[in-house]
Amino acid sequence: MTQAANPAKILVIFGTRPEAIKLFPVVAALKADPRFAPVVCVSAQHRSMLDQVLAIAGITPEHDLDLMRPNQTLDGLTAALITELGCVMDAEQPDRVMVQGDTATAMAGALAAYYRKIPVDHVEAGLRSGNIYHPWPEEVNRKIIGSIASLHFAPTSTSEAALLRENVDAARVKVTGNTVIDALHWVLGRIEAEPALASGLDDLAARFAGKRIIGVTSHRRENFGGGLEAIADAIRQIAARPDVAIIFPVHPNPNVRAVMDGALAGLDNVAMIEPLDYPHFARLLSMVEIMLTDSGGVQEEAPALGKPVLVMRETTERPEGVEAGTARLVGTDSARIVSEIFNLLDHKDAYEAMARAHNPFGDGHAACRIVETLGQEFGGHEIGQ
Ligand code: UD1
Ligand code: UDP
Repeated sequence: MTQAANPAKILVIFGTRPEAIKLFPVVAALKADPRFAPVVCVSAQHRSMLDQVLAIAGITPEHDLDLMRPNQTLDGLTAALITELGCVMDAEQPDRVMVQGDTATAMAGALAAYYRKIPVDHVEAGLRSGNIYHPWPEEVNRKIIGSIASLHFAPTSTSEAALLRENVDAARVKVTGNTVIDALHWVLGRIEAEPALASGLDDLAARFAGKRIIGVTSHRRENFGGGLEAIADAIRQIAARPDVAIIFPVHPNPNVRAVMDGALAGLDNVAMIEPLDYPHFARLLSMVEIMLTDSGGVQEEAPALGKPVLVMRETTERPEGVEAGTARLVGTDSARIVSEIFNLLDHKDAYEAMARAHNPFGDGHAACRIVETLGQEFGGHEIGQ
């Protein structure tokens, strides 16, 4: 397709692994549409984990702020983000800014755009736990973005309802499905066509052949300290079973590493590995019997693959997986985590009740809906005028 005479410049901003995974389908859809000229700016709030996604998605950002610092603080990171993202906006003069989710990058990007009166489009809008400390600081980040956004792309009718309860104009909310399902379908297709993209797990698959594999991820700030120690304790107890193996790609945050290295090193059936790139993680999801996680994105992906997911949180802003029966909130009490895992391992009925594929988070066409809605925003007139 030929480019429109005056395509709309959409500044797409992201900084962490999950934002990159959830925005690469949207960037691809914008690039394929002649009405738009997307400009990608990464804050690089994450570095290696962001770069893994950029590589597989084939995105070369126009702007890379390289902001990650070891063990960064929320205030230091946020201050740098607002200043640096504002400079990019001043240089690019975009028609609209797009952010995703609830990270510091998304919140600061929305705020810097608001300071310039540039309309903000929010992908994955309307998630609410109702508790500003769970998850922390994401619940407040997404409320700030919600109060600024021009268009709210809600993944589900539940998230739409949460926005309407906050008096957001219904005409500005579009239910699209979550773009993570677009990303997951895409990456599964890539692996099927080219298995070598995920062959780095062959050795672990061979080492743990015959074992019942449990996948673990954990990184939430509100779990630092006691929560992470309890999670590590639970993993030790689960690993005491000889029929089980645990594959745990450990988040590079030093607060996570210190606890997990101290508690879990040297256990034969626990593989603590570096963060996996997206094709390898998708393969891990398909290898496991159960996922144990505090991640947001994994709660959305596991139901799509029919994998029971035990969520190590007190509340969730993603109740759809729980309602569909594939996810269960288990908190961070080690005894509870262990008993929930053993229940699934030892009771076929309990396992089978959870292990059914559902797609409560989307049908894989969210990015198209987002781009179509954005197109309507320009009212069929020549965009950008
Ligand atoms: C961030 C988001 C969180 C999201 C998570 C996804 C905020 C406040 N938090 O949390 O909402 O769920 O990303 O993973 O925006 N690090 C590396 N390499 C990397 C990435 C991180 O070494 O590629 C280390 C650095 O020491 C960094 C630290 O992890 O300072 C914390 O990173 P940060 O983005 O502040 O927090 P996350 O816990 O990753
Ligand atoms: N993920 C990945 N490699 C890993 C762990 C997770 O690619 O080693 C992907 C996962 O498939 C999901 C996303 O990262 O799409 C979730 O990111 P994370 O848990 O860091 O953040 P959250 O979703 O909690 O914000």
